[in-house]
Amino acid sequence: MELPFAESFKIKMVAPIKKSTREQRKQWLKKANYNLFNLKSDEVFIDLLTDSGTGAMSEQQWAALMLGDESYAGASSYYNLKNAIKNILGFEYFLPTHQGRAAENVLFSVLVEQGDIVPGNSHFDTTKGHIEFRKAKAIDCTIDEAFITDKEYPFKGNVDLKKLEKVFAENDSEKIKFIIVTVTNNTSGGQPVSMQNLREVSEFAKKKGVMLILDSARFAENAYFIKMREKTYENKSIKEIVAEMYSYADAMTMSSKKDAIVNMGGFIAMRSKDLFDKASVFNIMFEGYLTYGGMSGRDMNALAQGLDEGTEFETLETRIKQVEYLGNQLIEWGIPIQRPVGGHAVFIDADKILSNIPKEEFRAQTLAIELYLEAGIRGVEIGAILADRDPITRENRFNGLEFVRLAIPRRTYTNNHMNVVAVAIKNVFDRKHEITRGVEIIKEAPIMRHFTVELKKL
Ligand code: F0G
Repeated sequence: MELPFAESFKIKMVAPIKKSTREQRKQWLKKANYNLFNLKSDEVFIDLLTDSGTGAMSEQQWAALMLGDESYAGASSYYNLKNAIKNILGFEYFLPTHQGRAAENVLFSVLVEQGDIVPGNSHFDTTKGHIEFRKAKAIDCTIDEAFITDKEYPFKGNVDLKKLEKVFAENDSEKIKFIIVTVTNNTSGGQPVSMQNLREVSEFAKKKGVMLILDSARFAENAYFIKMREKTYENKSIKEIVAEMYSYADAMTMSSKKDAIVNMGGFIAMRSKDLFDKASVFNIMFEGYLTYGGMSGRDMNALAQGLDEGTEFETLETRIKQVEYLGNQLIEWGIPIQRPVGGHAVFIDADKILSNIPKEEFRAQTLAIELYLEAGIRGVEIGAILADRDPITRENRFNGLEFVRLAIPRRTYTNNHMNVVAVAIKNVFDRKHEITRGVEIIKEAPIMRHFTVELKKL
Protein backbone atom coordinates (compact mmCIF):
# COMPACT_ATOMS: atom_id res chain seq x y z
CA MET A 1 0.00 0.00 0.00
CA GLU A 2 1.24 3.51 -0.79
CA LEU A 3 1.95 5.48 2.36
CA PRO A 4 -0.34 8.51 2.86
CA PHE A 5 0.99 12.06 2.98
CA ALA A 6 2.00 13.57 6.32
CA GLU A 7 3.35 16.95 7.44
CA SER A 8 7.11 17.58 7.31
CA PHE A 9 7.18 18.91 10.90
CA LYS A 10 6.25 17.93 14.44
CA ILE A 11 4.64 20.32 16.94
CA LYS A 12 6.79 21.76 19.72
CA MET A 13 4.66 24.50 21.26
CA VAL A 14 0.89 24.95 21.39
CA ALA A 15 -1.58 27.72 22.20
CA PRO A 16 -5.15 27.12 23.42
CA ILE A 17 -8.16 28.18 21.34
CA LYS A 18 -11.70 28.53 22.63
CA LYS A 19 -15.11 27.44 21.41
CA SER A 20 -18.17 29.62 22.00
CA THR A 21 -21.95 29.40 21.68
CA ARG A 22 -23.99 30.80 18.79
CA GLU A 23 -25.69 33.21 21.22
CA GLN A 24 -22.30 34.58 22.35
CA ARG A 25 -21.17 34.98 18.75
CA LYS A 26 -24.37 36.83 17.89
CA GLN A 27 -23.67 39.39 20.62
CA TRP A 28 -19.98 39.74 19.73
CA LEU A 29 -20.80 40.28 16.06
CA LYS A 30 -23.29 43.02 16.87
CA LYS A 31 -20.70 44.72 19.06
CA ALA A 32 -18.19 44.39 16.19
CA ASN A 33 -20.59 46.20 13.80
CA TYR A 34 -20.56 43.07 11.64
CA ASN A 35 -16.94 43.71 10.71
CA LEU A 36 -14.94 40.57 11.55
CA PHE A 37 -11.75 42.63 11.99
CA ASN A 38 -13.36 44.08 15.11
CA LEU A 39 -13.68 40.71 16.87
CA LYS A 40 -11.26 39.85 19.65
CA SER A 41 -9.16 36.81 18.78
CA ASP A 42 -10.60 35.13 21.90
CA GLU A 43 -14.00 35.32 20.23
CA VAL A 44 -12.74 33.24 17.29
CA PHE A 45 -12.31 29.45 17.30
CA ILE A 46 -10.49 28.94 13.98
CA ASP A 47 -8.97 32.13 12.61
CA LEU A 48 -8.65 32.15 8.83
CA LEU A 49 -8.77 35.94 8.49
CA THR A 50 -5.30 35.93 7.00
CA ASP A 51 -2.14 33.90 6.52
CA SER A 52 -0.15 37.09 7.06
CA GLY A 53 2.09 37.08 10.13
CA THR A 54 0.02 34.28 11.66
CA GLY A 55 2.24 31.28 10.85
CA ALA A 56 4.36 29.31 13.32
CA MET A 57 8.11 29.95 13.19
CA SER A 58 10.48 26.99 13.21
CA GLU A 59 12.96 26.15 15.97
CA GLN A 60 15.73 27.42 13.66
CA GLN A 61 13.94 30.75 13.33
CA TRP A 62 13.53 31.05 17.11
CA ALA A 63 17.21 30.20 17.49
CA ALA A 64 18.16 32.86 14.92
CA LEU A 65 16.05 35.34 16.88
CA MET A 66 18.28 34.91 19.92
CA LEU A 67 21.32 35.86 17.87
CA GLY A 68 19.78 39.11 16.63
CA ASP A 69 22.16 42.06 16.56
CA GLU A 70 20.34 45.22 17.65
CA SER A 71 23.03 47.70 16.56
CA TYR A 72 21.47 50.80 15.02
CA ALA A 73 23.81 50.72 12.02
CA GLY A 74 25.56 47.86 10.28
CA ALA A 75 24.06 45.04 12.39
CA SER A 76 25.14 41.47 11.53
CA SER A 77 21.41 40.65 11.23
CA TYR A 78 21.18 43.15 8.37
CA TYR A 79 24.03 41.37 6.58
CA ASN A 80 22.43 37.97 7.20
CA LEU A 81 19.29 39.22 5.50
CA LYS A 82 21.26 40.91 2.72
CA ASN A 83 23.03 37.61 1.98
CA ALA A 84 19.78 35.63 1.99
CA ILE A 85 18.19 38.09 -0.45
CA LYS A 86 21.28 38.02 -2.71
CA ASN A 87 21.58 34.21 -2.63
CA ILE A 88 17.90 33.27 -2.95
CA LEU A 89 16.41 36.16 -4.92
CA GLY A 90 19.48 37.47 -6.70
CA PHE A 91 19.16 41.18 -5.87
CA GLU A 92 22.23 43.28 -5.10
CA TYR A 93 20.40 46.08 -3.26
CA PHE A 94 17.67 45.98 -0.66
CA LEU A 95 15.93 48.10 1.96
CA PRO A 96 14.24 46.58 5.03
CA THR A 97 10.73 47.88 5.83
CA HIS A 98 8.32 47.02 8.62
CA GLN A 99 5.91 45.20 6.29
CA GLY A 100 4.76 44.90 2.68
CA ARG A 101 2.67 48.04 2.44
CA ALA A 102 5.59 50.04 3.83
CA ALA A 103 7.73 48.70 0.98
CA GLU A 104 5.01 49.89 -1.42
CA ASN A 105 4.88 53.28 0.27
CA VAL A 106 8.64 53.82 -0.01
CA LEU A 107 9.02 52.51 -3.56
CA PHE A 108 5.94 54.27 -4.91
CA SER A 109 7.13 57.53 -3.34
CA VAL A 110 9.91 57.32 -5.93
CA LEU A 111 8.03 55.78 -8.84
CA VAL A 112 4.37 56.88 -8.80
CA GLU A 113 3.18 60.39 -9.62
CA GLN A 114 -0.26 61.91 -10.08
CA GLY A 115 -1.82 60.77 -13.36
CA ASP A 116 0.41 57.70 -13.71
CA ILE A 117 -0.89 54.35 -14.86
CA VAL A 118 0.24 51.11 -13.19
CA PRO A 119 -0.83 47.97 -15.04
CA GLY A 120 -0.68 44.60 -13.27
CA ASN A 121 -2.59 41.45 -12.32
CA SER A 122 -5.30 42.20 -9.72
CA HIS A 123 -3.24 44.56 -7.54
CA PHE A 124 -3.62 43.76 -3.83
CA ASP A 125 -5.70 46.34 -1.91
CA THR A 126 -2.72 48.03 -0.22
CA THR A 127 -0.91 48.18 -3.58
CA LYS A 128 -3.94 49.71 -5.25
CA GLY A 129 -4.42 51.96 -2.23
CA HIS A 130 -0.87 53.33 -2.46
CA ILE A 131 -1.34 53.93 -6.20
CA GLU A 132 -4.75 55.61 -5.89
CA PHE A 133 -3.62 57.63 -2.86
CA ARG A 134 -1.08 59.24 -5.24
CA LYS A 135 -3.91 59.98 -7.71
CA ALA A 136 -2.60 57.41 -10.14
CA LYS A 137 -4.53 54.51 -11.65
CA ALA A 138 -4.07 50.75 -11.23
CA ILE A 139 -5.30 48.79 -14.27
CA ASP A 140 -6.03 45.09 -13.88
CA CYS A 141 -4.77 43.00 -16.81
CA THR A 142 -5.41 39.54 -15.32
CA ILE A 143 -6.52 36.91 -17.86
CA ASP A 144 -10.28 36.38 -18.22
CA GLU A 145 -10.05 32.77 -16.99
CA ALA A 146 -9.46 34.11 -13.46
CA PHE A 147 -13.00 35.44 -13.35
CA ILE A 148 -14.69 32.14 -14.23
CA THR A 149 -14.39 30.41 -10.87
CA ASP A 150 -15.47 26.91 -11.91
CA LYS A 151 -13.04 26.79 -14.85
CA GLU A 152 -9.91 24.73 -14.13
CA TYR A 153 -6.88 26.57 -15.50
CA PRO A 154 -3.37 26.05 -14.11
CA PHE A 155 -2.19 29.67 -14.07
CA LYS A 156 -5.16 31.90 -13.35
CA GLY A 157 -2.83 34.58 -11.99
CA ASN A 158 -1.35 35.27 -15.44
CA VAL A 159 -1.21 38.66 -17.09
CA ASP A 160 -3.10 38.98 -20.38
CA LEU A 161 -0.56 40.47 -22.80
CA LYS A 162 -3.29 41.77 -25.09
CA LYS A 163 -4.83 43.72 -22.21
CA LEU A 164 -1.36 45.01 -21.34
CA GLU A 165 -0.74 46.10 -24.94
CA LYS A 166 -4.09 47.92 -24.91
CA VAL A 167 -3.12 49.86 -21.76
CA PHE A 168 0.06 51.02 -23.48
CA ALA A 169 -1.77 51.83 -26.72
CA GLU A 170 -4.45 53.88 -25.00
CA ASN A 171 -2.29 55.87 -22.58
CA ASP A 172 0.57 58.32 -22.76
CA SER A 173 3.63 56.06 -22.45
CA GLU A 174 5.33 58.70 -20.26
CA LYS A 175 2.73 57.89 -17.61
CA ILE A 176 3.66 54.21 -17.35
CA LYS A 177 6.89 53.56 -15.48
CA PHE A 178 6.46 49.97 -14.42
CA ILE A 179 4.29 46.87 -14.54
CA ILE A 180 3.59 45.14 -11.22
CA VAL A 181 2.96 41.40 -11.18
CA THR A 182 1.73 39.82 -7.94
CA VAL A 183 2.97 36.26 -7.31
CA THR A 184 0.79 34.45 -6.45
CA ASN A 185 -2.16 36.59 -7.44
CA ASN A 186 -3.89 36.99 -4.06
CA THR A 187 -7.05 38.79 -5.12
CA SER A 188 -7.94 36.34 -7.90
CA GLY A 189 -7.70 33.44 -5.46
CA GLY A 190 -4.06 32.75 -4.60
CA GLN A 191 -3.57 31.77 -8.23
CA PRO A 192 -0.07 31.37 -9.70
CA VAL A 193 1.64 33.12 -12.60
CA SER A 194 3.50 30.79 -14.97
CA MET A 195 7.19 31.15 -15.72
CA GLN A 196 6.32 31.53 -19.38
CA ASN A 197 4.01 34.43 -18.56
CA LEU A 198 6.67 36.10 -16.38
CA ARG A 199 9.15 35.74 -19.24
CA GLU A 200 6.70 37.23 -21.74
CA VAL A 201 5.75 40.13 -19.49
CA SER A 202 9.43 40.80 -18.86
CA GLU A 203 10.17 40.86 -22.61
CA PHE A 204 7.20 43.16 -23.12
CA ALA A 205 8.38 45.51 -20.37
CA LYS A 206 11.88 45.65 -21.85
CA LYS A 207 10.45 46.42 -25.28
CA LYS A 208 8.43 49.28 -23.80
CA GLY A 209 11.34 50.50 -21.66
CA VAL A 210 9.50 50.10 -18.33
CA MET A 211 10.43 48.16 -15.22
CA LEU A 212 8.91 44.87 -14.11
CA ILE A 213 8.28 44.73 -10.35
CA LEU A 214 7.13 41.59 -8.54
CA ASP A 215 4.84 41.94 -5.53
CA SER A 216 6.30 38.91 -3.84
CA ALA A 217 4.28 38.07 -0.71
CA ARG A 218 3.69 34.46 -1.88
CA PHE A 219 6.54 34.01 -4.34
CA ALA A 220 7.53 30.57 -2.99
CA GLU A 221 4.01 29.16 -3.39
CA ASN A 222 4.12 30.48 -6.94
CA ALA A 223 7.39 28.60 -7.52
CA TYR A 224 5.79 25.41 -6.12
CA PHE A 225 2.95 25.66 -8.63
CA ILE A 226 5.42 26.23 -11.48
CA LYS A 227 7.21 23.04 -10.44
CA MET A 228 3.96 21.06 -10.24
CA ARG A 229 2.19 22.46 -13.29
CA GLU A 230 4.75 23.70 -15.84
CA LYS A 231 6.22 20.61 -17.44
CA THR A 232 9.80 21.84 -18.04
CA TYR A 233 10.21 22.74 -14.36
CA GLU A 234 9.23 19.43 -12.74
CA ASN A 235 12.83 18.45 -12.01
CA LYS A 236 14.02 21.87 -10.86
CA SER A 237 14.35 22.76 -7.20
CA ILE A 238 12.17 25.53 -5.73
CA LYS A 239 15.28 27.68 -5.26
CA GLU A 240 16.24 27.27 -8.94
CA ILE A 241 12.72 28.24 -9.98
CA VAL A 242 12.72 31.24 -7.62
CA ALA A 243 16.07 32.40 -9.04
CA GLU A 244 14.69 32.25 -12.58
CA MET A 245 11.46 34.07 -11.60
CA TYR A 246 13.47 36.98 -10.22
CA SER A 247 15.90 37.03 -13.14
CA TYR A 248 13.01 38.61 -15.07
CA ALA A 249 12.33 41.37 -12.52
CA ASP A 250 13.96 44.77 -11.99
CA ALA A 251 12.72 45.12 -8.44
CA MET A 252 10.41 43.54 -5.87
CA THR A 253 8.29 44.49 -2.89
CA MET A 254 7.90 41.92 -0.17
CA SER A 255 5.55 41.28 2.70
CA SER A 256 7.70 38.79 4.63
CA LYS A 257 4.71 37.82 6.78
CA LYS A 258 3.58 35.22 4.27
CA ASP A 259 6.08 32.94 2.51
CA ALA A 260 9.04 33.97 4.68
CA ILE A 261 6.98 32.83 7.71
CA VAL A 262 7.72 35.67 10.13
CA ASN A 263 5.22 37.61 12.19
CA MET A 264 6.35 41.01 10.97
CA GLY A 265 8.65 42.38 8.28
CA GLY A 266 9.13 43.34 4.68
CA PHE A 267 11.61 44.72 2.19
CA ILE A 268 12.23 46.21 -1.23
CA ALA A 269 14.95 44.73 -3.42
CA MET A 270 16.28 46.07 -6.70
CA ARG A 271 19.06 45.85 -9.25
CA SER A 272 19.52 49.59 -9.84
CA LYS A 273 21.83 51.54 -7.55
CA ASP A 274 20.07 54.71 -8.68
CA LEU A 275 16.67 53.40 -7.60
CA PHE A 276 18.19 52.22 -4.32
CA ASP A 277 19.62 55.70 -3.66
CA LYS A 278 16.31 57.40 -4.41
CA ALA A 279 14.28 54.95 -2.31
CA SER A 280 16.79 55.25 0.56
CA VAL A 281 15.69 58.84 1.16
CA PHE A 282 12.09 57.77 1.74
CA ASN A 283 13.11 54.67 3.69
CA ILE A 284 15.00 56.80 6.19
CA MET A 285 12.05 59.20 6.39
CA PHE A 286 9.25 56.65 6.79
CA GLU A 287 10.84 53.43 8.07
CA GLY A 288 14.22 53.83 9.72
CA TYR A 289 17.92 53.80 8.97
CA LEU A 290 19.04 51.81 5.91
CA THR A 291 20.28 48.78 7.86
CA TYR A 292 17.11 48.18 9.87
CA GLY A 293 14.26 50.13 8.22
CA GLY A 294 11.46 49.29 10.64
CA MET A 295 12.71 45.87 11.74
CA SER A 296 14.58 44.80 14.82
CA GLY A 297 17.81 42.83 14.36
CA ARG A 298 16.24 39.65 15.73
CA ASP A 299 13.39 39.92 13.23
CA MET A 300 15.82 40.33 10.32
CA ASN A 301 17.62 37.18 11.49
CA ALA A 302 14.38 35.17 11.66
CA LEU A 303 13.45 36.49 8.22
CA ALA A 304 16.78 35.45 6.68
CA GLN A 305 16.20 31.93 8.02
CA GLY A 306 12.53 32.01 6.92
CA LEU A 307 13.49 32.87 3.33
CA ASP A 308 15.69 29.80 3.26
CA GLU A 309 13.25 27.28 4.73
CA GLY A 310 10.23 28.89 3.04
CA THR A 311 11.81 27.98 -0.31
CA GLU A 312 12.25 24.30 0.57
CA PHE A 313 9.96 21.91 -1.29
CA GLU A 314 8.84 20.04 1.86
CA THR A 315 7.71 23.24 3.59
CA LEU A 316 5.63 24.23 0.58
CA GLU A 317 4.24 20.77 -0.09
CA THR A 318 2.99 20.45 3.51
CA ARG A 319 1.42 23.87 3.36
CA ILE A 320 -0.28 23.67 -0.01
CA LYS A 321 -1.53 20.12 0.54
CA GLN A 322 -3.44 21.36 3.60
CA VAL A 323 -5.12 24.10 1.59
CA GLU A 324 -5.98 21.51 -1.09
CA TYR A 325 -7.35 19.16 1.59
CA LEU A 326 -9.92 21.76 2.62
CA GLY A 327 -10.64 22.87 -0.94
CA ASN A 328 -11.13 19.34 -2.27
CA GLN A 329 -13.60 18.53 0.50
CA LEU A 330 -15.69 21.55 -0.50
CA ILE A 331 -15.50 20.64 -4.19
CA GLU A 332 -16.66 17.12 -3.35
CA TRP A 333 -19.74 18.58 -1.62
CA GLY A 334 -20.51 20.81 -4.60
CA ILE A 335 -19.67 24.06 -2.85
CA PRO A 336 -18.54 26.64 -5.43
CA ILE A 337 -14.94 27.83 -4.93
CA GLN A 338 -12.25 29.32 -7.15
CA ARG A 339 -10.69 26.37 -8.98
CA PRO A 340 -8.10 25.02 -8.90
CA VAL A 341 -7.53 25.55 -5.15
CA GLY A 342 -5.15 28.47 -4.53
CA GLY A 343 -1.86 28.49 -2.70
CA HIS A 344 -2.65 30.15 0.60
CA ALA A 345 -6.41 30.04 0.83
CA VAL A 346 -9.71 28.62 -0.30
CA PHE A 347 -11.86 31.28 -1.98
CA ILE A 348 -15.60 30.59 -1.72
CA ASP A 349 -17.72 32.04 -4.52
CA ALA A 350 -20.37 33.99 -2.59
CA ASP A 351 -22.04 35.26 -5.78
CA LYS A 352 -23.02 31.68 -6.60
CA ILE A 353 -24.13 30.73 -3.06
CA LEU A 354 -26.07 33.86 -2.10
CA SER A 355 -27.38 34.81 -5.55
CA ASN A 356 -30.83 35.36 -4.00
CA ILE A 357 -29.67 38.45 -2.12
CA PRO A 358 -28.92 41.66 -4.08
CA LYS A 359 -25.24 42.34 -4.91
CA GLU A 360 -25.66 45.76 -3.26
CA GLU A 361 -26.10 43.95 0.08
CA PHE A 362 -22.58 42.51 -0.08
CA ARG A 363 -22.95 38.79 -0.56
CA ALA A 364 -19.42 37.78 0.46
CA GLN A 365 -19.50 39.78 3.69
CA THR A 366 -22.91 38.26 4.45
CA LEU A 367 -21.52 34.76 3.91
CA ALA A 368 -18.46 35.51 6.10
CA ILE A 369 -20.82 36.63 8.88
CA GLU A 370 -22.91 33.45 8.56
CA LEU A 371 -19.80 31.27 8.75
CA TYR A 372 -18.68 33.01 11.92
CA LEU A 373 -22.14 32.57 13.45
CA GLU A 374 -22.13 28.90 12.49
CA ALA A 375 -18.88 27.84 14.11
CA GLY A 376 -16.72 30.78 15.22
CA ILE A 377 -14.65 30.61 12.02
CA ARG A 378 -13.29 33.93 10.84
CA GLY A 379 -12.69 34.40 7.11
CA VAL A 380 -12.44 37.65 5.19
CA GLU A 381 -14.46 39.29 2.45
CA ILE A 382 -12.53 39.68 -0.79
CA GLY A 383 -15.25 41.43 -2.73
CA ALA A 384 -16.96 44.76 -3.22
CA ILE A 385 -16.24 46.12 0.28
CA LEU A 386 -12.52 45.40 -0.12
CA ALA A 387 -12.57 46.83 -3.66
CA ASP A 388 -13.39 50.32 -2.26
CA ARG A 389 -15.31 52.94 -4.22
CA ASP A 390 -14.16 54.12 -7.64
CA PRO A 391 -11.88 57.10 -6.88
CA ILE A 392 -13.60 59.27 -9.52
CA THR A 393 -17.28 58.27 -9.53
CA ARG A 394 -17.29 57.26 -5.80
CA GLU A 395 -19.59 54.37 -6.76
CA ASN A 396 -19.17 50.92 -5.21
CA ARG A 397 -17.26 48.59 -7.53
CA PHE A 398 -19.53 45.57 -7.94
CA ASN A 399 -17.88 44.35 -11.15
CA GLY A 400 -15.35 42.01 -9.55
CA LEU A 401 -15.41 38.63 -7.86
CA GLU A 402 -17.25 38.14 -4.54
CA PHE A 403 -15.20 35.78 -2.41
CA VAL A 404 -15.02 34.71 1.19
CA ARG A 405 -11.35 33.92 1.62
CA LEU A 406 -10.32 31.29 4.14
CA ALA A 407 -6.59 31.88 4.45
CA ILE A 408 -4.72 29.09 6.18
CA PRO A 409 -1.89 30.22 8.50
CA ARG A 410 1.32 28.22 7.91
CA ARG A 411 2.11 25.34 10.28
CA THR A 412 -0.70 26.43 12.64
CA TYR A 413 -3.84 24.28 12.37
CA THR A 414 -4.31 20.54 11.84
CA ASN A 415 -6.52 18.83 9.30
CA ASN A 416 -9.05 18.21 12.11
CA HIS A 417 -9.52 21.98 12.18
CA MET A 418 -9.96 21.88 8.40
CA ASN A 419 -12.69 19.23 8.87
CA VAL A 420 -14.57 21.56 11.22
CA VAL A 421 -14.25 24.41 8.72
CA ALA A 422 -15.52 22.23 5.86
CA VAL A 423 -18.58 21.01 7.79
CA ALA A 424 -19.40 24.54 8.99
CA ILE A 425 -19.37 25.78 5.39
CA LYS A 426 -21.54 22.87 4.30
CA ASN A 427 -24.08 23.67 7.04
CA VAL A 428 -24.29 27.30 5.87
CA PHE A 429 -24.45 26.15 2.23
CA ASP A 430 -27.33 23.78 3.02
CA ARG A 431 -29.41 26.57 4.55
CA LYS A 432 -28.52 29.24 1.98
CA HIS A 433 -32.18 29.73 0.99
CA GLU A 434 -32.93 30.96 4.50
CA ILE A 435 -30.42 33.80 4.06
CA THR A 436 -32.40 36.44 2.21
CA ARG A 437 -30.90 39.76 3.25
CA GLY A 438 -27.35 41.07 3.49
CA VAL A 439 -25.72 44.10 5.11
CA GLU A 440 -25.61 47.85 4.62
CA ILE A 441 -22.63 50.16 5.19
CA ILE A 442 -23.22 52.74 7.91
CA LYS A 443 -19.69 54.13 8.19
CA GLU A 444 -16.60 53.77 5.97
CA ALA A 445 -13.12 55.20 5.47
CA PRO A 446 -12.34 56.91 2.13
CA ILE A 447 -9.70 54.30 1.22
CA MET A 448 -8.97 50.69 2.34
CA ARG A 449 -12.36 50.75 4.03
CA HIS A 450 -12.72 47.03 4.71
CA PHE A 451 -10.52 47.16 7.80
CA THR A 452 -12.74 49.62 9.67
CA VAL A 453 -16.12 49.58 7.91
CA GLU A 454 -19.21 49.53 10.14
CA LEU A 455 -22.20 47.56 8.92
CA LYS A 456 -25.85 47.00 9.72
CA LYS A 457 -27.61 43.68 9.21
CA LEU A 458 -30.67 44.10 6.98
N1 F0G B 1 0.89 42.35 -1.44
C1 F0G B 1 0.14 41.25 -1.32
C2 F0G B 1 -0.04 40.34 -2.49
C3 F0G B 1 -0.47 40.96 -0.10
O1 F0G B 1 -1.22 39.87 0.00
C4 F0G B 1 -0.27 41.84 0.99
C5 F0G B 1 -0.89 41.57 2.29
C6 F0G B 1 0.53 42.97 0.82
C7 F0G B 1 1.09 43.19 -0.42
C8 F0G B 1 0.78 43.94 1.94
O2 F0G B 1 1.61 43.39 2.87
O3 F0G B 1 0.27 43.22 4.98
O4 F0G B 1 2.75 43.11 5.01
O5 F0G B 1 1.60 45.24 4.56
N2 F0G B 1 -1.81 40.74 2.44
C9 F0G B 1 -2.45 40.34 3.68
C10 F0G B 1 -3.57 39.40 3.35
C11 F0G B 1 -2.82 41.45 4.59
O6 F0G B 1 -4.33 39.09 4.28
O7 F0G B 1 -3.67 38.93 2.21
P1 F0G B 1 1.54 43.76 4.44
